Amino acid sequence: MASQNPTSHVVEGLRLPRPFQVRRLGHFGINVASVAQSMDFYGRLLGFEISDELDFGPRVPEALKAQVGPSLGYFMRHGTDHHSFVLFPQAAMHASNPHYLAHPHLNLNQLTWQVSSLREVAHGLAWFESLDSRVLRSGRDTPGSNWHIYPVDPEGHINELYYGIEQIGWSGHSKPMAMHGIRYTQPPELPHRSEFAEVNQAMAQGVALTSGYRRDDRLAETFDVGGICLPRPFKITKVGPVRLLVRDVQAVLQFYTHALGLNLTEQADVLGHTCYFLRTNTEHHALAIYPEALRGPLGITHSRSLLGFGVHLGSYAQLRAAVSFMGQAGYQPVDMPASLSPGVGHHVWLQDPDGNAVQLYWEMEQIGWNGLPRPAAERRVWPHNPSDWPEHIDAQPDSFMGEVFLGPLN
Ligand SMILES: [Fe+2]
Repeated sequence: MASQNPTSHVVEGLRLPRPFQVRRLGHFGINVASVAQSMDFYGRLLGFEISDELDFGPRVPEALKAQVGPSLGYFMRHGTDHHSFVLFPQAAMHASNPHYLAHPHLNLNQLTWQVSSLREVAHGLAWFESLDSRVLRSGRDTPGSNWHIYPVDPEGHINELYYGIEQIGWSGHSKPMAMHGIRYTQPPELPHRSEFAEVNQAMAQGVALTSGYRRDDRLAETFDVGGICLPRPFKITKVGPVRLLVRDVQAVLQFYTHALGLNLTEQADVLGHTCYFLRTNTEHHALAIYPEALRGPLGITHSRSLLGFGVHLGSYAQLRAAVSFMGQAGYQPVDMPASLSPGVGHHVWLQDPDGNAVQLYWEMEQIGWNGLPRPAAERRVWPHNPSDWPEHIDAQPDSFMGEVFLGPLN
């Protein structure tokens, strides 16, 4: 096999086809018409927590400032990663970043993949440059302070490969602003000092470790989630998959499989069109690629390339409670064909204030050593209408497998 599939890169002692290995979908973000409206949906209702604010106002050209409106964006998290989801103001983003001028169909802000070392990020830059892929920038930014490169897919979607995103611990404080000066515009000389050494230096300089952002919402914690009081009857435990509508399916597929190294789990028919489901790890898919031609059959009237994305909840019981909770808040499920997401168990689709399709689910098929998905005939069958979902269902062998949520629920 090795001779048929020559490998020319070594990552931590392993020969690989490229100088990095994507481990998971780390985060993504959307640019929205009204950050305030979207915050109500994603923050107050769904429970993403703000980890830092960023004002894009200073980046907007003076002549456009009056037109763009509010310019504040939010980094948000569901666990200890500094951000798993970002909400940025669309008008300010489009006015300040020429990339959006060339790609007005983009409301996906970024699609971000975790690798496991700074060396993989640094060598990834050379890899994408060798493929003539456009890399928008590289280095290390704050907030989040992850090392990264930003390669762009053939239809303009900004991808990010990163190592070492800031972790938010027991106190709930993000890194102090005084540490945001540690920035890089290219990968550093390797090896680089550790984050512990950076924090030691900040402490020696007198930086107050609890001076960073800490969320200040005071919602009543009236629901019991696994024995913990929370402001809503469920907890987000993972983000993704992300679902894209694209013009040139084969070119996009080539980018995500060859350049980025995602694995094709399955191709499947959706309303007569072939769609592709890609994974990074054991999840059935973290990214789905659909042809533009599906817009009409799906009834999608906007021109954006983001079909939608998933938000994983902690359990089946939480998903049922979430459907009821979101319905009472005015967000009733919208109808979408189950064939859009093979391998995903019980789920509903909601429309956020911008009309993005947000899929709430809890169970995703897990793929093992041989890379084969479960035969379609052996998949769980469930009623389309959530009001027909039973209170209890049987666990499947992979119901609790895959990425595990670490730490307390809030
Ligand atoms: Fe990012």
